[in-house]
Amino acid sequence: MRATDLIIKKRDGLQLSGDEITWLIERYTAGDVPDYQMAAWAMAVLFRGMDDRETTDLTLAMARSGDVLDLHDVAPITVDKHSTGGVGDKTSLVLGPLVAAVGLTVAKMSGRGLGFSGGTLDKLESIPGFRVDLTAGEFREAVRQIGLVIAGQSGNLAPADKQLYGLRDVTGTVESIPLIAASVMCKKLASGADCIVLDVKAGRGAFMKTVDDARELAQRMVAIGQRSGRRVAALITSMEQPLGYAIGNALEVKEAIATLQGRGPQDFVQLCLALGTQLVLLAGKASDAAGAERLLRDALESGAAWEKFRALVAYQGGDLAIIDDPRLLPEATTVEPVFARDEGYVARIDALELGLVTSDLGGGRQRKGDPIDPSVGVVLERKVGDWVAQGTPLATVHASRATDIERMRARVEGAFEVSDAPPSASPLVYETVQ
Ligand code: URA
Repeated sequence: MRATDLIIKKRDGLQLSGDEITWLIERYTAGDVPDYQMAAWAMAVLFRGMDDRETTDLTLAMARSGDVLDLHDVAPITVDKHSTGGVGDKTSLVLGPLVAAVGLTVAKMSGRGLGFSGGTLDKLESIPGFRVDLTAGEFREAVRQIGLVIAGQSGNLAPADKQLYGLRDVTGTVESIPLIAASVMCKKLASGADCIVLDVKAGRGAFMKTVDDARELAQRMVAIGQRSGRRVAALITSMEQPLGYAIGNALEVKEAIATLQGRGPQDFVQLCLALGTQLVLLAGKASDAAGAERLLRDALESGAAWEKFRALVAYQGGDLAIIDDPRLLPEATTVEPVFARDEGYVARIDALELGLVTSDLGGGRQRKGDPIDPSVGVVLERKVGDWVAQGTPLATVHASRATDIERMRARVEGAFEVSDAPPSASPLVYETVQ
């Protein structure tokens, strides 16, 4: 087989066989197929799509590109969660400890920032010392000892996705339903999770811009998981404005810490509870949604979820003194407010633009493997529906290069739409796919 032929076949809109997909993934992981051919193939998939069978074959080939964990000797049931990516989406940082605190075992394999959207691993690495590159043995040991682990595709777990994910990030090939479905689900299958909840984002600040596309992605992922014998549910959730107030790696860690200490933004807390409820139900820890939510609220209010987060940070090498005093997290050298020109109600906040601003400030990557600046980002002072007086702050920009400030302030201001009438309320959770 030749990679060129498979690129041409997909470019021309033909289906690839299971053997062809497996060959391509194996050869790419081994380094025999170079990035430029894989990027061309990913672009062909983006334009031509893949059917359900091809998407499942791709997912399984990527999951089998490295070790596939079976954690049943250390925990009878493990749970995992994954978001398709949004702006200000620090959910895993809170949801993992939260459900672990109610007695679920969380074995989570996460990703890095992708395009305009942040990544859990980059966020956690803003805690000095925190290691996301665990070996399979360390991953298993964390599950056994504290019932919670959040790591990258290290130690040879789904290495094909690790390579392809980094490549897609910088080649404009993220927004493809089959590529996202395979990327998310191969990690879930490789990390051995029995129960999986998927947060499929829809809206301007998500890769799926419409609820219809998000539903298609959700259905594909749920089907792949169920065919592989996992219990899976997906929530389709709004990404029309950033989640919570903070966007940017260390800024989001601070907001996650505040949330675990009972001071979280309302929308963010609501999302964590909704996703947590699904996981508790899938794992059979409660018989109905109200009971599941009660367990989760108790874990948040009692401080049990916060203590789980501390245990996670300690196990993975992070500096506890820093999370106990989050002012010690990396801080930007320049912090400047952006003021409202007019008074009125905030009608819209362009999450995509604020994600791009954060990336351009140094919070994301322009080329594969670029280092990122954990301190930069944007913190909202107002959310959609809030009233703002003329000349009062809409947001603050956190920058490391003073030269960025003026340009970024203009972009942040442009991301807010202020109007005379209050906007109509829109739901945070659109629907559940099971
Ligand atoms: N999250 C992933 O893990 N992969 C994608 O492609 C998008 C979001």
